[in-house]
Amino acid sequence: MAFELKNTVPWGRNLDEYRAMFNLTNYDLDKRIISFGDGPASFNFEMTSLNKNVVSIDPIYRFSKDELKQRIIETKDIVIEQTKNNLENFVWTKIKNVNELEKIRLSAMDNFLQDFEAGKKENRYLNHEMPNKTKFDDLPFDLGLSSHFLILYSQLGLDFHILSINEMLRVAKEIRIFPILNLNAERSELLNDIMECFQKNYIVKIEKVDYEFQKNGNEMLLLKRY
Ligand SMILES: C[S@@+](CC[C@H](N)C(=O)[O-])C[C@H]1O[C@@H](n2cnc3c(N)ncnc32)[C@H](O)[C@@H]1O
Repeated sequence: MAFELKNTVPWGRNLDEYRAMFNLTNYDLDKRIISFGDGPASFNFEMTSLNKNVVSIDPIYRFSKDELKQRIIETKDIVIEQTKNNLENFVWTKIKNVNELEKIRLSAMDNFLQDFEAGKKENRYLNHEMPNKTKFDDLPFDLGLSSHFLILYSQLGLDFHILSINEMLRVAKEIRIFPILNLNAERSELLNDIMECFQKNYIVKIEKVDYEFQKNGNEMLLLKRY
């Protein structure tokens, strides 16, 4: 099925959130990082501003800045309304209320939009749809990330996940996936099968992180070479 803009709901997080979701240390931030399903997050923009190296991968990068901006305007009220209707599914400690959530997300997405065209020219934003093979040789990256894409979108199926994770591990020495819940905020039904599949050849573990917005969503999956 073709990847169409009208089926996307752009929603992006910021560097502080990425640091917390993935337990990123200052040492980690200096690694060569590739981030899958990065969408309109400001992670790449903020890291680049700090002279760090991040490549972001997402099929929405095939669209123009104006198309993405328009889609963000069309969908943001819907996402905020849905959040208001499900307040009890979220933890309102770091982010205090829906107004603050809207401010943080719109600011992240605005930073992304301002950076998008320059970042595309610098090959920091790559239009690419997983689980297809990326253009990279084996292991140019130290760290691969997936925030709110793999595992969360469990409806993509086990094969999609195995193929995508295999490709991530082909290009990065270590990968981290957050959260390990599905869209119903339950531990993903794919998690055990994914862990079992990679346990033979990789170190596979679940780690607690200092980030919990989706209730009980405070763990990430980490896979790395022995
Ligand atoms: C909920 S957003 C998360 C954005 C960002 N990672 C963050 O946490 O702020 C999920 C992203 O996954 C991307 N995505 C969906 N299918 C994908 C695929 N097959 N390959 C790569 N990215 C995909 C979407 O376009 C969207 O930008």
